[in-house]
Amino acid sequence: MSISIVILAAGQGKRMCSDKPKVLHQLAGKPLLSHVLQVAISIDARETYVVYGHEGKQVLESIKDYAVTWIKQKTQKGTGDAIKQVINNIPETDDVLILYGDVPLITKKTLNSLIKAGDSGFSILTAKLSKADGYGRIVRSCKGNVESIVEEKDADHEQKRICEINTGFMCVRAKYLKKWISSLKNNNNQKEYYLTDIVKKAVIDKVIINSVLAESDIEIKGINNRMQLAELERYYQFKQACDLMNKGVSFSDPKRFDLRGKIETGKDNLIDINVIFEGNVRLGNNVKIGANSYIKDSTILDNVVIFPNTMIDNAVIGSNCRIGPFARIRPETTLDNNVHIGNFVELKKTYIKKESKVNHLSYIGDSDVGGNVNIGAGTITCNYDGVNKHKTTIGDNVFIGSDVQLIAPVNISSGATIAAGTTVTKDVVKDSLAIARKKQILIDNWKRPDKK
Ligand code: UD1
Ligand code: CA
Repeated sequence: MSISIVILAAGQGKRMCSDKPKVLHQLAGKPLLSHVLQVAISIDARETYVVYGHEGKQVLESIKDYAVTWIKQKTQKGTGDAIKQVINNIPETDDVLILYGDVPLITKKTLNSLIKAGDSGFSILTAKLSKADGYGRIVRSCKGNVESIVEEKDADHEQKRICEINTGFMCVRAKYLKKWISSLKNNNNQKEYYLTDIVKKAVIDKVIINSVLAESDIEIKGINNRMQLAELERYYQFKQACDLMNKGVSFSDPKRFDLRGKIETGKDNLIDINVIFEGNVRLGNNVKIGANSYIKDSTILDNVVIFPNTMIDNAVIGSNCRIGPFARIRPETTLDNNVHIGNFVELKKTYIKKESKVNHLSYIGDSDVGGNVNIGAGTITCNYDGVNKHKTTIGDNVFIGSDVQLIAPVNISSGATIAAGTTVTKDVVKDSLAIARKKQILIDNWKRPDKK
């Protein structure tokens, strides 16, 4: 049987109170709709259609990387009307798997069970929740067959007490869907064409409705307001932390951790509170990451210690390095093994060979630094002349005193010493001392002014 996937994503999401369409709000650093698309592409479907509409331009601009067919729903007249926009594009023999742009954590496993149950022509995914507020309720006959779905806003007191809810996910043979959709009415509380009303039509047509129970509550949680979004974010992050703990990572507090992307990790890594990982991060073994650090698209090798409040973006940190606290490692930086980077040091587009140290308050940019180099406090590479960026090269075993400016382009050869307070404007040859500062004068018996 061939599958077509339809993702409903046209709604405004009034309850978000936002200028942004709901499906673009982010979970773990990614739009809700991207999470759904990620699952959709993992399913072997003939075609995936996304029904979009409210602030559609924003949606198309934000979600570009997926090979899907976009179908516009001009006015949002309900989930049934949304399906109407797309149904004529789908071959009648296909089974249509319906997903929701605002239910981001559905799993492939559950969807495959739903597809299997859809053999009868119609299957729905339900869940039993202790708090069913906001969801449509599943009404069953005394024999236990699904008879209808009642939206909460249309439900009477008795129906509101039903704890089996409609997750929204369903799989329906296209020819039935087409027929049932064409005769939907909007005579309900919200004046909308409800997709859920096809259940009654299936009962009349004697199509068997198979229901599948969702394995976990988290995968069927829909986002209608910002509280639900925040709650799901914490759920999801905790789950990611648990997955990492199962791989040998320890957390000071797994509830204060955020992964917005992917992480590959070795064993015995220790992550303190409020650490954020973004993009693609790789950790070796025995890495310690201090509190409040932010690490994006970087590789950190074995035995590295990162002290608190450090930012690392697009960098490679060699094994046994010590970074921070309060260090900022910017893109295209590579540190060899055993490099020490201390507090308030900023590195950009810089390569530092092994055993070198930049321990305090420095900016090193567009530089190549040798091994066993010591860069003193307050050293700055003046890499930018207001128009172009220039390179600084520092050889092995160089010693740079405190408060030195290196006016790039400049080359400090190996073994050279730069005296504190020097502004280096010319290349410094091997094993020499460069000193450029005013001679000190002394005035004897200096009398300080008296306080008036
Ligand atoms: C819907 C279901 C409800 C279910 C719940 C599960 C209906 C009538 N109700 O309610 O039974 O318990 O999902 O989360 O189907 N959309 C469009 N076009 C529209 C309206 C909505 O594309 O005209 C999209 C929205 O962007 C959203 C999805 O459909 O992604 C669901 O719409 P929403 O208004 O959130 O429906 P619920 O009230 O949550
Ligand atoms: Ca919803």
